[in-house]
Amino acid sequence: MTFSCELIRDAEKDRLAGHLAASLTELVDVDLLLERILHEARSIISAEAGSIYLRRKDKLVLAISQNDYLERGGMDHNRSELPFLNYILDINKESLAGYVTIEKKVLAIDNTMEIDPDAPFQHYTAIDNSTNYICEAVITLPLLCQPEESMGAIQLINPLDENGAVKGFADDDVQVLSFYVKSAALALEKAMMLRSMTLRSVEVISAHDPQETPAHAQRVACLASELYEHWAKAHMVPSYERTRILDHLPLAAMFHDIGKISVPASILTKPGRLDHQERALVEGHVLAGARLFRIHRTPLDKLTYQVILDHHERWDGQGYPGWVDLDTGLPLKDRSGPDGRARGKRGEEISIYGRILAVADVYDALVSRRSYKDSFDESLSIQIMEQESGRHFDPQVIESLMARKKVLKRIRDRYPDSMESLELTTDLPLARAPVAYPLNHPRM
Ligand SMILES: [Fe+2]
Repeated sequence: MTFSCELIRDAEKDRLAGHLAASLTELVDVDLLLERILHEARSIISAEAGSIYLRRKDKLVLAISQNDYLERGGMDHNRSELPFLNYILDINKESLAGYVTIEKKVLAIDNTMEIDPDAPFQHYTAIDNSTNYICEAVITLPLLCQPEESMGAIQLINPLDENGAVKGFADDDVQVLSFYVKSAALALEKAMMLRSMTLRSVEVISAHDPQETPAHAQRVACLASELYEHWAKAHMVPSYERTRILDHLPLAAMFHDIGKISVPASILTKPGRLDHQERALVEGHVLAGARLFRIHRTPLDKLTYQVILDHHERWDGQGYPGWVDLDTGLPLKDRSGPDGRARGKRGEEISIYGRILAVADVYDALVSRRSYKDSFDESLSIQIMEQESGRHFDPQVIESLMARKKVLKRIRDRYPDSMESLELTTDLPLARAPVAYPLNHPRM
């Protein structure tokens, strides 16, 4: 949802906050939700910038930042490339976000330079210094979920007047924003629950196959979203459709190998080559997974089904399972080749979601250590992916991979395989380049 650059008149704030809060129920993806919550909270008071911190154990992790001034001003900006993501604070009362998280109170500060030196909290200038952007006026609100637990804080920075000058906070800002942020926190809590449940399913699979970790699932989901967003823009997919898919694709992607639960762990972890029968059992994970989502109760079910069913097909038709009956695994009528086996789907017979997952999954396998190989570096992995363009992979999806090369390392840094880091990052937002929502205020 976007807004014109007109300032919102005070009398309209309540109505707007109610409308915006209701719209949050449309989304299930943590990333998109964070993106929208922050953007819309900023729009209520015309704030130029903002951040959301989420609580992880005894830390606050900067989950998302938006800054129209920096994004306009020459830094290279997808927001996932802003320099301060992965910023982590201890939870104590010394920072504004920490104080608000602990005390569950709102702090509205018209001028950070004038904070009482005896106050328990101070404005940290580290980010200001690294970006040359001064946070003058800052309002920080707790994200309160049920039962009145704080899951972090949202910070809105530098509300602007119609001339682009920083103004103070209006009397009703706290009340209106508190109402909106309360609804936002509840929506966020539900989305996080959904992602957590999905990642727990992945952990169940990792008991069978050590490669299938929550970190791998999140990296694949993140890269798949990056690839889809680039591909969809290049193919003029309307923005409402892009948003709908981006809302569901990460969760669908995390389930891509759920069918491995049907394959004996002794085969999935077997060193060396598999015999014909073992290979058939491993390949059976596709149909086993797809069957779990064959009944489409929701659009997410349908997308997950397509992702699972098509993620091992190849652009050149040499993948699997091909044109088979879901229950029997036998070729569909008139869909078998000369050897009697089912023909593989080829080209655009494969859903775009399967074509994207194939690229994301194989790329992550290449740059990760496996029982049968060490990790390859990024340039070698990209070279291999390019060589397979038009054979294993859809050339246009490989083009999207090339176009998004800059986020590959960030995705790996965000979801490393080490458990310690994973505990901090599990169900945190993906490092996907977000949809841009500029507020378009002039800046003096
Ligand atoms: Fe798979």
